[in-house]
Amino acid sequence: LADGPLKGKHVVVTSGPTHEPIDPVRYIANRSSGAQGTAIAEALAALGAAVTFVTGPADAARPRGVHVIEVETARQMLEAVEGALPADAAIFAAAVADWRVTQAADKKIKKDASGVMPMLDFAENPDILARVSQMKEGRPALVVGFAAETNDVVDNATAKRTRKGCDWIVANDVSPETGIMGGSENAIVLISSEGAEDWPRMGKVEVARKLAARIAEALA
Ligand code: C5P
Repeated sequence: LADGPLKGKHVVVTSGPTHEPIDPVRYIANRSSGAQGTAIAEALAALGAAVTFVTGPADAARPRGVHVIEVETARQMLEAVEGALPADAAIFAAAVADWRVTQAADKKIKKDASGVMPMLDFAENPDILARVSQMKEGRPALVVGFAAETNDVVDNATAKRTRKGCDWIVANDVSPETGIMGGSENAIVLISSEGAEDWPRMGKVEVARKLAARIAEALA
């Protein structure tokens, strides 16, 4: 472990998409690459933190110098996060699927010869960020969520912070014209009890370093 202001601190980071199975060969997912979560895990480790990195099936290379736990579904992610606690801080950068298919088929769903379409029933996934934020016992001292918004970024993210009960929301504007989704840059507004702080547009690695430095200050 590196020497630094986070030495002796344990931080849990979630990252990547989750996959929710439909049947053994099909799933529901989203476009998260895992790039921002990976960069955050590496930046925290560089400051000396012991990092548990819980990731869904992400394209991004796994971060180095951290403990990686690979999961597939939202429910597995929740279980891995709960198993990784206690932690001094928890950073929820994963793009968790809001819904899962209630009963994934155990055999591949076949096309119906008479053209009848399959019907999928959905159930809501657990909100991992909200659960950890609202823990009565053993809550990490600092809980950070993300909010990808396309409009009214500050208002939506501020409401999200209150609703989930986390300490900070790292909000970003992912409207198509920003080119942020799938890109290497990010434009962040950090929402805390103090209000909203605009960060200049910068690379995702720079965002990660700045956020890790702020986390180190907050835990000092
Ligand atoms: O509600 P929304 O999905 O916009 O909130 C995003 C934040 O909540 C992110 O930090 C994400 O990692 C977290 N989240 C979660 N579990 C869910 C849904 C979102 O941890 N089921």
